[in-house]
Amino acid sequence: MTLTPTPLDAPRGDATLPAPAVALSLVAVEEAAMSVTASEASIASDGSKEPSPMQSEPPAVAAASVLQPAIATAGFAMASDPAASDGVRSSAATSAESAVDPAEDLAALTRPDFPLLSQIACLGQPLIYLDYAATSQKPRQVLEALQHYYGHDNANVHRGAHQLSARATEGFEHAREKVAAFVGAASAREIVYTRNASEAINLVARTWGEANLKPGDEVLLTVMEHHSNLVPWQLLAARTGCVLRHAGLTASGELDLDDFRSKLSERTRLVSLVQVSNTLGCLNPIAELAPLVHAAGALLLVDACQSLPHQRVNVAELGCDFLVGSSHKFCGPTGMGFLWAREALLEAMPPFLGGGEMIQDVELDTSTWADLPHKFEAGTPAIGEAIGMGAAIDYLQAIGMDRIHAWEQRLTRRLFARLQAIEGLTILGPTPEQQPNRAALAAFHVEGLHANDIAALLDSSGICIRSGHHCTQPLHRHYGLSGTARASLGFTTTEAEIDRFAEELEGTIGFLREHS
Ligand SMILES: Cc1ncc(COP(=O)(O)O)c(C=O)c1O
Repeated sequence: MTLTPTPLDAPRGDATLPAPAVALSLVAVEEAAMSVTASEASIASDGSKEPSPMQSEPPAVAAASVLQPAIATAGFAMASDPAASDGVRSSAATSAESAVDPAEDLAALTRPDFPLLSQIACLGQPLIYLDYAATSQKPRQVLEALQHYYGHDNANVHRGAHQLSARATEGFEHAREKVAAFVGAASAREIVYTRNASEAINLVARTWGEANLKPGDEVLLTVMEHHSNLVPWQLLAARTGCVLRHAGLTASGELDLDDFRSKLSERTRLVSLVQVSNTLGCLNPIAELAPLVHAAGALLLVDACQSLPHQRVNVAELGCDFLVGSSHKFCGPTGMGFLWAREALLEAMPPFLGGGEMIQDVELDTSTWADLPHKFEAGTPAIGEAIGMGAAIDYLQAIGMDRIHAWEQRLTRRLFARLQAIEGLTILGPTPEQQPNRAALAAFHVEGLHANDIAALLDSSGICIRSGHHCTQPLHRHYGLSGTARASLGFTTTEAEIDRFAEELEGTIGFLREHS
């Protein structure tokens, strides 16, 4: 298989902000030729058990894995090992969490699996991707899982009596078990596939919200929420008359727990917040908040978009009632996400969208609903994408989420040290000293300069960062800003990339100051 690197022609900047003052034309993109063969593949992508008679030949994967030596040496089980993927288990059980070496360079270990990251960008400079909070890059194991599904097993699920449909259904449902294990769900019945996290939140607002909220009931959110966790509740408030409240921030850019407690009352029916902010990078103490929320008689929804790719997430340990995630943030395909909720809650909720797949029996005027989780999944789902998401989970589990978190903490400290040394630059959110578990990203503002100009100029040096409001407009308004520049890292990020980014950023700031 030959993968063609993506040209660097993605739209830049933020539509709501004025155009950059510095107009830049991209220099012709020089792409490195990358030929990815099946024999170079590392982690097995399907995590499957013994091939059943219904299964086609799995994709050819070589025995030698980029990750395997480290894993084998430490005696870890691969998530794709049949014994490790048998049924639903806690995420801790299927990954290499026990032996975390903080000095371990995960970028060196994983980079060969990400051919896109080896491309040469402008002026012969290597591409540096620092936009993981927007979307992750995909390892070749995920690409191969997609290719294998569409090349060997493609059929509609749950419907056909034929072998392709049976194989597609098996892959689709097996992926659901992987998601359940990834978040520590009690069963795969608790995992509802959605298009993304936004749809999962809308599902809860439309079904649970409309069935349970009346005028005067309160939904408690926070000022740091992504628009996906603000707008669905605004729409719900318009439909039901419920009231939205928002917990504020401390001076360090963390959740203000006193304000949170003061806004939580017997009127609160639901609390919905991020586990990790995509702009502040702070980690909210969900397990600490859950008992408070439940004592007030409310339910707790956790937006885990920015935590799932970077740390171990376990719904039982968090004590939440709903949790949502997007596959594309954690190395899986776009167009796929999920809602986790306790089975009893899902049973009590009315369906979301109507159509095929979600019914048990249809009369001309009435219908009955399919069992969980299919009651919430109308129409033909994103089958290949679900299987690709399962392959992404296998990949992450094979590394181990605690290992990822440890490496990214080290990267975060380096990123902050380099950025804090730049005059006139302010980073939003807590420092690694204030919050050691904070996320590996930095949204920053440079006095007198526009974030779009900074991002555009860095792009011309092959460095991809984001600029704009990052779908947290109210949070930016809280700081009196229309936007920030944001560098967000992943486990494939190298220390050398952080250093080059910081050097180019310093040069960019100097250039912009000189020319403005
Ligand atoms: C914290 C957070 N919540 C929700 C979302 C929405 O994710 P999606 O667009 O995949 O639905 C994002 C995406 O940036 C996010 O960072």
